[in-house]
Amino acid sequence: MKILVLNGPNLNFLGIREPDIYGKQTYADLTAYIHSAAAELGVEVEIFQSNHEGALVDAIQNAYGRMDGIVINPAAYTHTSVAILDALKAVALPAVEVHLSDVDAREAFRQVSYAGMACQTRFTGLGFEGYKRALEYLKQ
Ligand code: DQA
Repeated sequence: MKILVLNGPNLNFLGIREPDIYGKQTYADLTAYIHSAAAELGVEVEIFQSNHEGALVDAIQNAYGRMDGIVINPAAYTHTSVAILDALKAVALPAVEVHLSDVDAREAFRQVSYAGMACQTRFTGLGFEGYKRALEYLKQ
């Protein structure tokens, strides 16, 4: 089973950005965590991060016919991007939304998720563990 893990804008700044919200661990720590969770679960992962909406749309389209599922933390694009929603709908792969922070307990604008409308479920507020839970969900 092959799963694409997508991370949106500013997640490459983990460890630097708002550590009180996102923690002190870096993006490299996150990718290492995802690789080790995938190995434990016996799934193959490709991880991609971009600060650009179109690059995320391209990555979703490239998953078509190649990957079995998508784990996506669209970061700020969660709350704005119809293009990412449409790309997820276009490829129609099982998808799971992840957020490190508890978006529902934050500002009102973070409580809207366009990408989430094309996802089967979501894990929020669990930090890195949300990615493992998402991989587990897709494996089943
Ligand atoms: C985030 C939550 C988003 O609202 C925010 O824009 C991010 C990160 C999270 O993982 O908690 O960049 O997706």
